[in-house]
Amino acid sequence: MHQDITPIAVRPWTLNGISERMIVSHYENNYGGAVRTLNALRSELAGLETGMPGYRIRALKREELIAMGSVALHELYFGNLGGEGNKIPDPVCAMLEEHFGSVARWRREFVETAQSLAGGSGWVLLSYSRRDRRLVNQVAFDHSQAAVDAAPVLALDMYEHAYHMDFGANATAYIDAFMRNVDWTAVTGRMAAVRADHPLPQEDPSDTSLPSLSVEELSARLAKGEPVQVLDARPRHHISRTVDLMAGATWRDPDRVEEWIGELSPDKPVAVYCAYGFHVGCNVTKTLRERGFDARYIRGGISAWYAVGGARAMRGE
Ligand SMILES: [Fe+2]
Repeated sequence: MHQDITPIAVRPWTLNGISERMIVSHYENNYGGAVRTLNALRSELAGLETGMPGYRIRALKREELIAMGSVALHELYFGNLGGEGNKIPDPVCAMLEEHFGSVARWRREFVETAQSLAGGSGWVLLSYSRRDRRLVNQVAFDHSQAAVDAAPVLALDMYEHAYHMDFGANATAYIDAFMRNVDWTAVTGRMAAVRADHPLPQEDPSDTSLPSLSVEELSARLAKGEPVQVLDARPRHHISRTVDLMAGATWRDPDRVEEWIGELSPDKPVAVYCAYGFHVGCNVTKTLRERGFDARYIRGGISAWYAVGGARAMRGE
């Protein structure tokens, strides 16, 4: 089974005290790395020949479990950021009070557990145990070791790569920043789903009302030699901070569509991306479709492309 990249669920520029640079690096390099590792491991497992030594199979299965955990927990982590951490909805407060005595006691245990991992590595999870019908705080080492038959509803990444760029060794400041940015709406949705025995909600922020392409689909179409016109439509203020773009793409100012629309081939498909796939690429795609082009936006933007390991080029090349 191929693992696709999920677009980053949080708007990276909106976080309070956590930089866009750090969260995007985390998404592209660490989450993307986990997805790429998982796919490489699964290809290797799919090619197992009979007679493969047991120690080799065990090693691959152990690494597959770690990569599966890393993919899932990172998606939960990005999906539970971007809110106002102090605004815990009443139904969640009621559950925390019931299972921990008070919200303050839950918070103290969660934060102190995170602090206990400073300088080390692991995840701190608030999980709903279906087995025990209650919430628990737990540590998950090696991106795995999650409680049996429990669903994580709040995930805090305590690996150093999650905070070192902004906070150095100051894990306490990072934990404070994380708690300020928890999106309790997402946590509430997860709690409701798991208590109703439903799958956890998908937090993919893609606009489903507009035709789109995943980065994997785009990559496959380009590999087949399809003549896709790939446009980088990141705003001028964003592109001016970067030195590279998707290999084969051309940057076009999203605020000046009329100046360049005449240069496009009307009979070739167009793929448009922005930084993360939230709205700029979508708006340009909408305009191009209104003008008769077979245009689609790229879900997850350039960040998803880099996360999947897509080729990049220096601007001006
Ligand atoms: Fe991470």
